[in-house]
Amino acid sequence: MAKAHKIFETHLGVLSAGIIAVISLGGLAEIVPLFYTTATTEPVKDLKPWSPLALEGRDIYIREGCHVCHTQMVRPFRAETERYGAYSVAGEHVWERPFLWGSKRTGPDLARVGGKYSDDWHRAHLYNPRDVIPESNMPSFPWLFQNELSGKDTLQKMRVMRMMGVPYTDGDLENARFEVRGKLEIDALVTYLQQIGHAMPRVQ
Ligand code: HEC
Repeated sequence: MAKAHKIFETHLGVLSAGIIAVISLGGLAEIVPLFYTTATTEPVKDLKPWSPLALEGRDIYIREGCHVCHTQMVRPFRAETERYGAYSVAGEHVWERPFLWGSKRTGPDLARVGGKYSDDWHRAHLYNPRDVIPESNMPSFPWLFQNELSGKDTLQKMRVMRMMGVPYTDGDLENARFEVRGKLEIDALVTYLQQIGHAMPRVQ
């Protein structure tokens, strides 16, 4: 035993290979069971795919970098659940491509923001956050109120989502373009914000 130990300690290559083997096995032991646990692979009961307009809003959320300042992941700690609401579970995120959990909270977590404020509050806030929260340092997004959506890519985006397992029906796809065309970017973003976290109660 001591001899084997010595081989590892005196040969950098052997030690490196040993470290890689141990970390890989440990990683597999942690990760592989998650693929077979329904709590991590099955959608929660009331989960619905994003509506076409919300899906466009989600892309605007990514384009504007909202996820760089806002997480969408309430951790299971009392300080978080009391501030934001029910903690996040994997089943809420099974159709999220890409997921937007984020890692930096310059602003508050948004995983439970759906339904927290009115549409009008969000519009006023996104136009100029300081109109509603005087001390806010969130940027203004006035151009969202001018840019109109054509909806020309919406169908394709939904098809791609469907290919990756999101259960959009043919009916959903047919109506997609009409729900989006002519709407402003702000309409799409607010629709998205209001649908975030819809499948979970805001408060536990
Ligand atoms: C530079 C960082 C930053 C960026 C980028 C940013 N925010 Fe914020 N956000 C904040 C801060 C700070 C607050 C807290 C003050 C406030 O409410 O305005 C906030 C608050 C919010 C709130 C209110 C949350 C609550 O529970 O009260 C919402 C909703 C929101 N942001 C949405 C967005 C959206 C949508 C975008 C992208 C279009 C965005 N934010 C981009 C920093 C940011």
